[in-house]
Amino acid sequence: MTDKLSVKFAGVDFKNPLIPASGAFGYGREFEHFYPLSTLGGISVKGTTGTKRNGNLPPRIAETPSGLLNSVGLQNPGIDHFIKIELPNLKTKDTAIIANIAGSTADEYREIAEKLDKTDVDMIEVNISCPNVKAGGAAFGVTCEGAAQITKIVRAATSKPVMMKLSPNVTNIADIAKAVEAEGADAVSLINTLLGMRIDIRTRRPILHNNMGGLSGPAVFPVAVRMVWQVANAVSIPVCGMGGISTWQDAVEMMMAGASTFQIGAALFADPMTPVKIIEGLEKYVQDNKLNNLQEIVGTVKPW
Ligand SMILES: Cc1cc2nc3c(=O)[nH]c(=O)nc-3n(C[C@H](O)[C@H](O)[C@H](O)COP(=O)(O)O)c2cc1C
Repeated sequence: MTDKLSVKFAGVDFKNPLIPASGAFGYGREFEHFYPLSTLGGISVKGTTGTKRNGNLPPRIAETPSGLLNSVGLQNPGIDHFIKIELPNLKTKDTAIIANIAGSTADEYREIAEKLDKTDVDMIEVNISCPNVKAGGAAFGVTCEGAAQITKIVRAATSKPVMMKLSPNVTNIADIAKAVEAEGADAVSLINTLLGMRIDIRTRRPILHNNMGGLSGPAVFPVAVRMVWQVANAVSIPVCGMGGISTWQDAVEMMMAGASTFQIGAALFADPMTPVKIIEGLEKYVQDNKLNNLQEIVGTVKPW
């Protein structure tokens, strides 16, 4: 493995920019049968809440043309289990560990961030696409005020690098990015899933029990590239791009749009070997283009 893929991102060393996305990789156990987790730049683990959650009722996954809809509903064992059982195991894997956190109230985000601050997790990624139960269920991340509020709270609760994960279900994602940067975020990641819905025309019922779900996979890639480009041009903090990446060419495109690191979600369901194939492709790309480091391509798109 060449160190020409290495990147220091928000103060954290990654041996390469590839990170399996939260919710698509669990805690890595299933994937260790395919390759050592040290192959990866980092891992964004399944979203962790203050207490155990069973998630939504099934069906909660539906295939779509070039993508999938999910309404898993943040099924996870809770922050105490994560810190006691999963994190010590993950920290033996020689890869950066990003704790992805979620809450239904601002206090829940604060409590989780305070607990993680005392651990050796490398970075905290904050999912703000969750419904704010005290504000009628609208997601925190769909307004500048909500996104800024959670950033401020998490920032005050930890000295770990904080990466705010932005929702694409907004009018102007660059404004949200600026709002979280102003409150001290060290990085932003985007995009989370796009709200979608499918209906079974025989039963006239939505395919997902939750009626709506989040769309991801290749279908959302052009939307993600556009949003990463807009955000990278609006803020000075680094950007982690995701949404539909499934090949090394997609990763190069996302980096040219402005992402210094990137995450892979839905593609892992289609082919668990995707990360290995992408890293190999990027190593060859660096060699063929005589780059000293892959970071040289970040944000190099030449707009018309
Ligand atoms: C089954 C599934 C579960 C997910 N769970 C989470 C989660 O717990 N926290 C989070 O921030 N994002 C979650 N996501 C969103 C992904 O991390 C990612 O932002 C999104 O899927 C776009 O990337 P992709 O097109 O490569 O899948 C989930 C996505 C899928 C498909």
